[in-house]
Amino acid sequence: MLDELIKEVSAAEMPSHIAIIMDGNGRWAEQHNQKRISGHKEGVNAVRRIVDIAGEINLKYLTIYAFSTENWGRSKTEVGYLLKLIMDSLNKEINGLRKNNVNIRFIGSDKELSESYNKKVIETCKKSWDNDGLHLNIAMNYGSRREILEAFNKMRADIDKGELLEDDISEATVSKYLYTAGMPDPDLIIRTSGEQRLSNFLIWQSAYSEFWFTKTLWPDFSKEEFLQAIIGYQSRKRSFGKR
Ligand code: IPE
Ligand code: IPE
Ligand code: MG
Repeated sequence: MLDELIKEVSAAEMPSHIAIIMDGNGRWAEQHNQKRISGHKEGVNAVRRIVDIAGEINLKYLTIYAFSTENWGRSKTEVGYLLKLIMDSLNKEINGLRKNNVNIRFIGSDKELSESYNKKVIETCKKSWDNDGLHLNIAMNYGSRREILEAFNKMRADIDKGELLEDDISEATVSKYLYTAGMPDPDLIIRTSGEQRLSNFLIWQSAYSEFWFTKTLWPDFSKEEFLQAIIGYQSRKRSFGKR
């Protein structure tokens, strides 16, 4: 089944960038009569699966939404668990990712996170920055409105320094000041768990993205379903406003 689906994916029409809103960990845990945090732990296994298959089909960019600027509003226990889980998973996976030619980075705001947390993330990710296979972005303490606001502030600072001319600000300039600078916009955005919204994810970048919604809860999301989403995407006609 998996091999057949891999063959069905057209290499020529491979999306350059897929972004995923990994949702439904809490409901998965509830279904299994477990605490919410067990759902998050199980969610890491799904991340491993999807990163694995993304590398196998030679995807160039994969961005996954791990923690939003709004997620600080959850209980202290859950937030603490998520921060630790994300750091522990990075530490556990970094050697395997390096071996698999994955180039990993975190995108998001460093404001609410401690200096030592941010430092450790960069130090660890750096070990993979010579890799030129899959570019994996972990959206951590990410919020699109925050990203755009920070971009405005950086632009203003560069104007003050004389490094940016006010008259030169184009759409491309704005893109260059976002966390995703230099990356292609996502061609396909997948959201699991049946919710159909962006939840402050890649608002600027998703202007022309295709969307794929599935009721599957994130911990149950399989390699097969990921490939089905790509095959579905490849059957769509993208006009970009032209005819
Ligand atoms: C997604 O699962 C993971 C994060 C937002 C960190 P949820 O924790 O949102 O799961 P549900 O939506 O409550 O089921
Ligand atoms: C979005 O999921 C954030 C992440 C997947 C990290 P949420 O579960 O936090 O979003 P809402 O509350 O349903 O919009
Ligand atoms: Mg949710």
